[in-house]
Amino acid sequence: AIGPAHDRLGRPLHDLRVSVIETCNFRCPYCMPAEAADEAGLGSTGRLSFAEIETAVRAFVRLGVRKVRLTGGEPLLRRGLPELVARLAAVPGIEDLALTTNGSLLAGHARALREAGLRRLTVSLDAVDADLFRQLSGGRGEIADVLAGIAAAEAAGFRRIKLNCVVQRGINDHQVEAIAERFRGSGHVVRFIEFMDVGNCNGWRRERVVPSAELRERLHARWPLRPLEPAYRGEVAERHAWCDGAGEVGFVSSVTAPFCGDCHRARLAADGRLVTCLFAADGAPLRPFIAAGEEALADRIAALWQARADRYSEARGRAGQGRRIEMYFIGG
Ligand code: GTP
Ligand code: 5AD
Ligand code: SF4
Ligand code: SF4
Repeated sequence: AIGPAHDRLGRPLHDLRVSVIETCNFRCPYCMPAEAADEAGLGSTGRLSFAEIETAVRAFVRLGVRKVRLTGGEPLLRRGLPELVARLAAVPGIEDLALTTNGSLLAGHARALREAGLRRLTVSLDAVDADLFRQLSGGRGEIADVLAGIAAAEAAGFRRIKLNCVVQRGINDHQVEAIAERFRGSGHVVRFIEFMDVGNCNGWRRERVVPSAELRERLHARWPLRPLEPAYRGEVAERHAWCDGAGEVGFVSSVTAPFCGDCHRARLAADGRLVTCLFAADGAPLRPFIAAGEEALADRIAALWQARADRYSEARGRAGQGRRIEMYFIGG
């Protein structure tokens, strides 16, 4: 297969999110709570090799993928990651290569990633208060390390780093102004994300969701905001500018304003399963097709994508509350 693939709802395949590892050094209760994470990981033979990932990415590019994001678990735990970045940066057709990390190990890796060809970085950051940050990472993380990672990334040449903050009512919603204030004027872009019911173990409750509209009003009251046009079609975050020129902030509202209609994202799990929705119960194994080569693999992916009808966030409530793949397996 070659040429753009479209699913049953007419959505093209444009973005690929590749999980390079299924483990994490944090134990955020909403993603990989300590109680749920004691099962053994895949181990290095269970994970796709860099050569396999490169073959997969080339096949996806044949079908229209132009944007690739590396995720985890925590991707910086994968040995030799800059080598993978260099291999993917050299694949013709990829216009955008990004990485999502918890930032804790970034200080030691930022320069090598930059030199390997990484151009865009997203760091998860749910609190700036040191005690709360520690608690939200399951007792494993230090905000000082993450801030040092961001500083090292700036020094290595990364600009407009995106900072993802998942907001939970009664847990970290009182941190929103402090986080905004910390990064206003920095050139980086904070995005506040509605807490989603992904996975099976994160104890999601609707009362914990803070609607983006509410947050936007709160922030607007403190520092006036004005809406900006999306940077590209299907952008997940709604962009806003601080009217005083201190930069930009975003809101991701997948609970109160689902965006399935424009969802052109496929996810490749660390073990080679193709996941066509964040809320899927499972994925389709691609590893045997990767072994058969780029062409056979592209045919398989095209068939899977053409069969896709996922729109979980739009159907939420009506959809069954079945088993779902865990977030740390596919990296959000
Ligand atoms: P940019 O390319 O920088 O615009 O990144 P992005 O916003 O597409 O990616 P990022 O991983 O930073 O996404 C932000 C958050 O939006 C993630 O943490 C997810 O929680 C959520 N998100 C991203 N993609 C999807 C999706 O396909 N469905 C749902 N329901 N949520 C998503
Ligand atoms: N709801 C919203 N975002 C989530 N993430 C992890 N779990 C959830 C959830 N339940 C986010 C992480 C990270 C990105 C990869 O996904 O905070 O920023
Ligand atoms: Fe937390 Fe991200 Fe690790 Fe999940 S993958 S436990 S959200 S740091
Ligand atoms: Fe895409 Fe599924 Fe998210 Fe909808 S819920 S935007 S289909 S990943």
